[in-house]
Amino acid sequence: MDNITDEIKSRLDIIEIIQEYLPQLKQAGTNWKTFCPFHNEKTPSFTVSREKQIWHCFGCSEGGDIFSFIMKIEGIEFVDALRILAKKSNVILKKQDPQLTNQRAKLLEICQLSTDFYHQILIKSPQGQIAREYLKKRKIFSSIAKNFQLGFATDSWENLTNFLLSKKFKENEIIESGIAIKSVNLSAKNKNKIYDRFRNRLMFPIYDVHGNVIGFSGRILEDKKNEAKYINTPQTLIYNKSQILYGLDKAKQEIKKENLAVLVEGNMDVISSHQAGIKNVIACSGTALTLEQIKLLKRYSSNLALSFDLDSAGQKATKRGIDIAWQQELNIKIIKLPKGKDPDECIKKDANIWQKAIKDSQSIMEYYFDSVFLNLPRTGYDLSIENKKNATKILLPIISKLTNKIEQEHWLQKLGEFLNIDEQILRDSLIKENTNFNSKSMSKEKNNLSTNKQIPLIDEQNLLLEEKIIGMIFKFHKNLKEIILKFPINILQNKKLLELAKNFIKDYIKNEEKFNEDQWIKSISKEMANYFNTLIFAAEKDFLNFDSSIEYEIQKNINILKKNILDQKLKIIEEKFKKAEKEKDCEKINFLEKKFKEIIEQLNEINYL
Ligand code: GTP
Ligand code: MN
Repeated sequence: MDNITDEIKSRLDIIEIIQEYLPQLKQAGTNWKTFCPFHNEKTPSFTVSREKQIWHCFGCSEGGDIFSFIMKIEGIEFVDALRILAKKSNVILKKQDPQLTNQRAKLLEICQLSTDFYHQILIKSPQGQIAREYLKKRKIFSSIAKNFQLGFATDSWENLTNFLLSKKFKENEIIESGIAIKSVNLSAKNKNKIYDRFRNRLMFPIYDVHGNVIGFSGRILEDKKNEAKYINTPQTLIYNKSQILYGLDKAKQEIKKENLAVLVEGNMDVISSHQAGIKNVIACSGTALTLEQIKLLKRYSSNLALSFDLDSAGQKATKRGIDIAWQQELNIKIIKLPKGKDPDECIKKDANIWQKAIKDSQSIMEYYFDSVFLNLPRTGYDLSIENKKNATKILLPIISKLTNKIEQEHWLQKLGEFLNIDEQILRDSLIKENTNFNSKSMSKEKNNLSTNKQIPLIDEQNLLLEEKIIGMIFKFHKNLKEIILKFPINILQNKKLLELAKNFIKDYIKNEEKFNEDQWIKSISKEMANYFNTLIFAAEKDFLNFDSSIEYEIQKNINILKKNILDQKLKIIEEKFKKAEKEKDCEKINFLEKKFKEIIEQLNEINYL
């Protein structure tokens, strides 16, 4: 077979692959059917043919082969789909495959090589002795260290960097993978030096759901006051912590089998639990649960048991995570452990404690009720008025968020019993609560922000992009006349940046060849001048070692920004569409459909570089 994609296709079964994402895919005659993941529908029109190894949706007319399915459902480029499917089919991609020479592929390769490098040191080099002892102390078996590819970064500034340079990676690629840092020390000797980010740390490779290493978490061997216990890869082209659950690549099958995902806080908890044979366990690594993570989990199970320290400082973030999980209709349970212990500590004492705690996990509503009522004093059966008011204040908003009406009714009744109050009164308050809730989200929508928690995150990414583009223009303006003259200024959504850029471009165009940067800076406020300098620095940092031209980079980033903005608009329209469908508002539906098409057209017009 001369074509690598054919080779991969021949080794895979499209049904099995799609079922991983759409477990409801069922045989219907010669074909397989389910609801389309790419549009909203009430009868299943998403069809897969095993014989032809293709898929098609008769509702939205999307279709294609296994590669286009993965690209679309994961929202990724072809090369990344190729990588994922090659891995699944055990086809080895050769380095010289031209399709793989893109930047993401390079970063993935760096992460994999670094993993091997750290792992070898941990298992056999004399320098790894200290880390081997640490693992022994923490009762981690070498078989599990191998399975999770744990490693050790020695106490050196350049061990790994030199190794990667010897493998002919460029400095900027190594930096962009997050594994090394460029020195900001400007003394002549160290200028422009790059150095290892992780030194003297036990290394945990972080895998994406397909088993590719995309980043690292490094733990200090001896806890010290003035040093972070863990440091992690920063956000890179391939690593976004809000989309990752530690251990999911190894836990996903078990989560499906048990129909339960157990979510813990730390990487060590995941590893210990796997070692004890309880493998449906994943970690969110100290951050709050995000919408992306929950959507990822939902592919494998809609039952989630949390083992979190709910009394800790992160409680608010945890609650927000629970709210998102609820909106996504996940069933949430809470695992209770002996006070002050994390799963790892329990397991090391007795794995049965952990197993039993999972089995005895409590529904989250029971947990909320307990946490309110167990601590309140009663006179006979009754609570004081003050306490009743307090309990209602805490529990009613929670009950109001339950999407299932039967469940809501159940807990309303319970609350009535506990408080010794007529349920109807509670129901009236609940309706009030709901209107409050809705009017809040309405005003949000007016600001172009949907209730969808993902959107502020994209805004943050967009701001970074905006700053990157403008920073590059500021820095390299001398050679960018064409770009500046036709710069689509309206894509900037950050007011301050927009003001600064507008001012700059106006002056630039007015003075043409005679534009004088120093003079212009004198004409703007001190605050704006500071912002200008910050942007220039950022541009310097990002684009020192660039292969392609600045024009190319700017245009590429403008396109990404445009695409993000349009994607955001699509999301908002989708939400409104769902609402209009529910309300059977035909006029609105037609209007939104038209808008939708317009945006899709605009999206298609963007030329991807
Ligand atoms: P051990 O102490 O080795 O058992 O680790 P742990 O997982 O129990 O750590 P802990 O409960 O203190 O923290 C839970 C998770 O929060 C960790 O696994 C990390 O992902 C994260 N975390 C903890 N400390 C830090 C830190 O100093 N910096 C960062 N970035 N993350 C941290
Ligand atoms: Mn721990």
